[in-house]
Amino acid sequence: QTDIPRIRDVVTEFPVGAAITAAETLGVHGELLARHFTSVTPGNALKWDATEPAENSFTYAQADPLLAYAKAHGLAVRGHTLVWHNQTPAWVFTGADGEPMTATAADKALLLSRLENHIRNVAAHYGDDIATWDVVNEVIDESQADGMRRSTWYEITGLDYIRTAFRVAREVAPQATLIINDYNTNVPAKRDALYDLVAQLRGEGVPIDGVGHQMHVNVGWPTIAETEAMLRKFVPLGIEQQITELDVSIYRDSTETFEVPPADRLLAQAYAYRDLFALFRRYAADITSVTLWGLADDNTWLDTFPVTRKDAPLLFDTRLQAKQAYWGVVDPSRLT
Ligand code: G3I
Repeated sequence: QTDIPRIRDVVTEFPVGAAITAAETLGVHGELLARHFTSVTPGNALKWDATEPAENSFTYAQADPLLAYAKAHGLAVRGHTLVWHNQTPAWVFTGADGEPMTATAADKALLLSRLENHIRNVAAHYGDDIATWDVVNEVIDESQADGMRRSTWYEITGLDYIRTAFRVAREVAPQATLIINDYNTNVPAKRDALYDLVAQLRGEGVPIDGVGHQMHVNVGWPTIAETEAMLRKFVPLGIEQQITELDVSIYRDSTETFEVPPADRLLAQAYAYRDLFALFRRYAADITSVTLWGLADDNTWLDTFPVTRKDAPLLFDTRLQAKQAYWGVVDPSRLT
């Protein structure tokens, strides 16, 4: 389909991106990607297990081809992610004695030195080729009194892993936008916990440039008013906001299963995309990037999580054809 408008020509307020694997830079996928998008996020290739599988043994074999593709096509790159509790090798949390780390001063020092070494190497390898880093991912747990997820990172270092990660990232990649990224930031308790953390750390001088709202949503949730409240909450901080992992599941809950996406759900999804992009464009003074968590419905994490069933959360279908959702973004008057 080369006869339809490019998303990048219609939505010009901020870069619009897609999360990709290496396969999606090739053939018709690669053409679709470069045609419509202005940014890419390697979906897995820059995570710790991919870049430093063994201590101080760095490999960029997964990510470098993606970066080369991005460079060749003039696409911005979002680096995802320097620190997470998932997809991090077990050795990172293993003490010098070979046992799982505990909250001792020695283990804390070792863990923070591994963190610093990891960021120094990975961020330096890419330099200015990566414009934005998701420095830390999913650190909030609003069910905790202090709002902090009880990851091993937190159990061993408290907030120091976050402070260290941002300070080292700023030092090594001074031009990059440094983001704290999380999901369900539209949920008021989680949103407020994230806000409080960012306000506190920025108050200390920790170089957090912005918040990333993942926005894994579905056709019935959240409302646009709730999403707007999420954006509005962070405006007083004067920071950047990025939509980092947008997709709109056609399912309303984990019990539904469709063999084929029903037309009414695809239309509801298209209206959801219409309303979300209209909102984001109204907040263009605050929003500096919007990324879809995938290129087309032939490859989406939602096919296996939270349950195995076919989902269709993106703008292009499994044959890479533009969906109603695409028209919701590009020209809602075409929705029928
Ligand atoms: O690489 C192995 C492969 O060697 C093995 O044969 C295969 C069999 O299971 O697994 C492969 O690893 C998979 C990996 O994706 C690469 O394809 C993992 O099992 C699978 O769990 C992993 O899923 C990724 C998920 O993060 C893991 O946490 C998804 O692709 C990725 O889209 C997803 O992305 C996250 C963001 O980073 C953070 N926010 C939520 C988002 C969705 O879960």
